[in-house]
Amino acid sequence: MPDVTLTTLNGLKAKGEKITMLTCYDATFAKAASQAGVEVLLVGDSLGMVLQGHDSTLPVTTAEMAYHTACVKRGNDGALILADLPFMAHATPEQAFANSATLMQAGAHMVKIEGAAWLADTISQLSQRGVPVCAHLGLTPQTVNVLGGYKVQGRQQAQAEQMRADALALEQAGAAMLLLECVPSELARQISQSVSIPVIGIGAGSDTDGQVLVLHDMLGLSLSGRVARFVKNFMIGQNDINGALAAYVKAVKDVSFPASEHGFSA
Ligand code: KIV
Repeated sequence: MPDVTLTTLNGLKAKGEKITMLTCYDATFAKAASQAGVEVLLVGDSLGMVLQGHDSTLPVTTAEMAYHTACVKRGNDGALILADLPFMAHATPEQAFANSATLMQAGAHMVKIEGAAWLADTISQLSQRGVPVCAHLGLTPQTVNVLGGYKVQGRQQAQAEQMRADALALEQAGAAMLLLECVPSELARQISQSVSIPVIGIGAGSDTDGQVLVLHDMLGLSLSGRVARFVKNFMIGQNDINGALAAYVKAVKDVSFPASEHGFSA
């Protein structure tokens, strides 16, 4: 059991204190980030891009996610470990059950699933079987080929209405947390207020219940050389990585990050 549990995260939302999350893929960074006060370590399938050098997250397998989740578990000092179900690992409820079991047995405390209301039954059944689920809405990188690129989602009124409805349906189905990626700040604010579960944002403005960034991005490392609008390099002004991690936690907690320039308009 981690020191940070779902109860802790719900309590932070209830008292209006921002939740800190960072991606993490190994034991050394797990120790550094958890000891810096990062509450949730996300073993994201972004590891396909930042560790493996692929141009998308699609090649990542459940076995690879389990390997990195086990690495993170060994270094973790009390954070909640959230692990991604990778591409097609939840295409059917049965696949979602088996692959979630693999990740939970490797050390995850919760799994994250990209997808909208069509996942309601899967999420409900996972939750009944002891697997807390974070649903991921907005820009879902596993569907980049359907979306036609890594683009802000929810700018059109119909899309925004659909996302609001999806968020409510997924909460109703039993999702324990919601992650919104690349969503206009005002829409993210509305969704965060409309659900009682914690909502974590990346490129979703400052009015969500917490923030996540990809670890390599916030340390100023980029394979492609491109830096997304919502990224801030926390190494600037710091002497070392521990300083950058502490600065990130402080900036999320005091709501100085993200600033308005890190968000998107409708
Ligand atoms: O895989 C990942 O790292 C993610 C974040 C971008 C939120 O899903």
